[in-house]
Amino acid sequence: MQTISQCHTVLSRITNVWEKRSQVKKKELEAALLLDSTKPDFRIDLLPFKDHPAFLESSQETKDKILSCGWLMYNWKTIGVELKVVNPVCEDIIYHRYPGVSESAIQEVATDVLVDESYHVQLVTKAGVITSQQRGLQSLKSPEFNLVLGMKKEQDLYQEEWQKMLVKLATSVVSEVFVSDYLKLLSTDETIQPFNRAVVDAHRRDEDAHSSIFKNLVQCIYSELTSEQKAFFIEVLPKPLYWFADKELEVWKSVLEQIGFAKAEEIYRDCRAGQTSNLDSIDYTQLIELVQDLDPKRGEESLANMGLLN
Ligand SMILES: [Fe+2]
Ligand SMILES: [Fe+2]
Repeated sequence: MQTISQCHTVLSRITNVWEKRSQVKKKELEAALLLDSTKPDFRIDLLPFKDHPAFLESSQETKDKILSCGWLMYNWKTIGVELKVVNPVCEDIIYHRYPGVSESAIQEVATDVLVDESYHVQLVTKAGVITSQQRGLQSLKSPEFNLVLGMKKEQDLYQEEWQKMLVKLATSVVSEVFVSDYLKLLSTDETIQPFNRAVVDAHRRDEDAHSSIFKNLVQCIYSELTSEQKAFFIEVLPKPLYWFADKELEVWKSVLEQIGFAKAEEIYRDCRAGQTSNLDSIDYTQLIELVQDLDPKRGEESLANMGLLN
């Protein structure tokens, strides 16, 4: 495990290059130059029902519409993570609600992330507006995602404010460590609409830095927790992985119903009967390393309890 002063040094180094790295400081993407409506908006293999007969037998037009919905959902999920999970944690750090965050590098880095995430919200909202207009999906509404619901349900289990705050911190760490992989898949995909790929790629460039920021931030906070708080945090830290990997079948059901897809209920029922999370396709080695690094003994127990150790 790094020392806290090493964490501070890493965070200083990252915040010192923020101006060069941050996408908000770059020239805005020109949608008009990148739009190619002949290409699909999203990857078919990211649909949790891609092999379901009701989807396979639908017309190409319907399949394309569903892929556009997939892209809109991807953007909504991003907005949920930024506004309901990550930015609230940055706010807590700026208000010194967590211990171990008074170092100037930490304060600066939290404001950098707050700006980055706010920019990502703007980026994906604009992208969503363009897609909705282009594909006639303006009336589609976003239900709440399981990632955010999972966090809220877990917070409701506890009385103390510090417990709720540590659940939020755990959710932000897991999101920030894994969001880069999640973005990488689309940011390198030549088969989807080039504008969508460019939006995801811009986002990914910031998230690569955020992953390292959150791994260091969490060590600074953890080192100043009481032993009761440390034990609680280690127990809770692996849980958001399940919320993050959720296939969001309820959101899909709502979206398919909203576009008038006749077999929405059937798809939902059949998919629910199978695996409801994408955990198999996620490499969570980094989370295992982080938990074990924070507390080798308790970490091992916590990961085993969550079924994350072989
Ligand atoms: Fe982001
Ligand atoms: Fe981020």
